[in-house]
Amino acid sequence: MDGENEKVDPSGAAGAEEGAVPARDSVSAVDKPAVPFKPDESETAVVADEAEELLEEEPDEPEEADDLTDDKAPAHEGPALSVAGRRVAIGVDIGGSGIKAAAVDLDTGEMLSQRHRVPTPQPSTPAAMIASVARLVKRIGKEVELAPDTAVGVGFPGVITSGVTRTAANVDPGWLDFDADAAMERVLRRPVHLINDADAAGVAEMRFGAGVGRRGTVFLITLGTGTGSALFYNGTLVPNLELGHMEIRGRDAERRSAAAARIRRGISWKAWASDLDEHLLAIEKLFWPQLFIIGGGVSKRSERFIPRLTVRAEVIPARLLNDAGIVGAAMAADEREHMAE
Ligand code: BGC
Repeated sequence: MDGENEKVDPSGAAGAEEGAVPARDSVSAVDKPAVPFKPDESETAVVADEAEELLEEEPDEPEEADDLTDDKAPAHEGPALSVAGRRVAIGVDIGGSGIKAAAVDLDTGEMLSQRHRVPTPQPSTPAAMIASVARLVKRIGKEVELAPDTAVGVGFPGVITSGVTRTAANVDPGWLDFDADAAMERVLRRPVHLINDADAAGVAEMRFGAGVGRRGTVFLITLGTGTGSALFYNGTLVPNLELGHMEIRGRDAERRSAAAARIRRGISWKAWASDLDEHLLAIEKLFWPQLFIIGGGVSKRSERFIPRLTVRAEVIPARLLNDAGIVGAAMAADEREHMAE
């Protein structure tokens, strides 16, 4: 993975003596409680506290320039939409350049709120990103009546196992081995489930978009800051497939196939299509899919590159375009909630 994933300790506590109690937590004999106060100094708690501090710093109403609500609709006014009788979850899509979120009707895939977007904080540390997500959820809560247990699904650009973010190729290394579900639940005070961003987009495309009714081996390939991959066999997801990082010409394949690679390298659509083709051919050689669905913002321009691809599988653009990540994350959160019951 290009050696990009060095593990760091974001709490800065590395090397601290085990069991040492920080001075600020000491209590005098007079006010000593019956049960000694045991501060929660876990990484999760430290990051959650930091995120809460960042949240407080932010004004309630974001300034116009910060409010990048995609559809440029005016700020929501009036009472929040009642969603009684509907199954609703919030979907969040964390990307390299923006974080997008909306309330989603789980049975139709329809967005019940505006699609809000804020730029991804730089550096994209867990605390800064969690504060951004909390702000977005707050905004959505003004538009749609959310129950206290309405779940939040978060599509994240890395591997997630048991709610822990395991890789961080295009975000801050503070996310490595970070208990993200727990930290976000602490700040948002509602159930939160993270899922890989490509897996989220794939789940939505298979249910409501280009993959409906498609059986056999199907790939959703998302092209953005990185290249994401989701594998479905007869509609069932095999999670955390990281084909963006398969090695082609001695490097991570996404260094050439991601949408960002075309812009970074200043190459033509034709030249980039040929790099993407090389990646898809390598995948095809190993998995023999029937279908590639191409997602990410670039899928809006599919006529520029899909006709140039030479793979034998069918290649079609995603249908939900920018919404797939949000819708799929919401669906995944709801599914996890029911698994937990
Ligand atoms: C990450 C994947 C992610 C993809 C798209 C890659 O760099 O490793 O987990 O799905 O980018 O964001």
